[in-house]
Amino acid sequence: MSMRKFGIKTATAVAVFTLVTPVHAQNLGKVVSESDLVNWDISIGPDGVGLPTGSGTSAEGSNIWSEQCSACHGENGKGGPAGDLVGGVGTLTSPDHIKTVGSFWPYSTTLFDYVRRAMPYYAPGSLSDDEVYAVVAYLLSQNEIITDDTIMNADSLPRVEMPNADGFISYWPVAKK
Ligand code: HEC
Repeated sequence: MSMRKFGIKTATAVAVFTLVTPVHAQNLGKVVSESDLVNWDISIGPDGVGLPTGSGTSAEGSNIWSEQCSACHGENGKGGPAGDLVGGVGTLTSPDHIKTVGSFWPYSTTLFDYVRRAMPYYAPGSLSDDEVYAVVAYLLSQNEIITDDTIMNADSLPRVEMPNADGFISYWPVAKK
């Protein structure tokens, strides 16, 4: 490559950089406001820390289920095109295993996290916290983990014991002290 060609390319790159950078730089280093952060700070860990206020029961959740979930996940959580969320307990060690909330999920708390951030598939984030508690209660009761009238909230949900709670081992090595 000749020095002249290199010089022109470099000059062009510097010119483009100079023209473009100030526009992007306006957002760099900008402090994120508390109100902006609230919308992103929605992760719920296994222990349930971060679960919001609000509550719901399976009875309340069944309407939401019919209107917003059943088309993809089936009338009672079974048989829909997006896969079963109910049943399958005891199938995990067979070749025809069915992984559902009841048979596979180790935590009830992360179910809240998942549904709130990702479902319904066409409108993630559209459910209120009460609606998420209710539809989570519906899934847990359909799986016969809780009764129909058990109220799910920040206190009760973490105490729900999932059938497959002991079915996982940590991939991460335990830190040496
Ligand atoms: C338009 C179709 C559609 C609708 C409506 C829908 N889902 Fe889903 N759902 C999916 C698909 C597709 C997946 C798999 C997504 C993936 O693996 O990335 C999924 C995954 C899930 C899972 C995780 C399943 C697992 O074990 O990994 C849960 C729980 C769930 N949906 C709950 C709900 C609830 C509750 C509603 C109603 C509020 C709902 N879904 C509405 C399509 C839908």
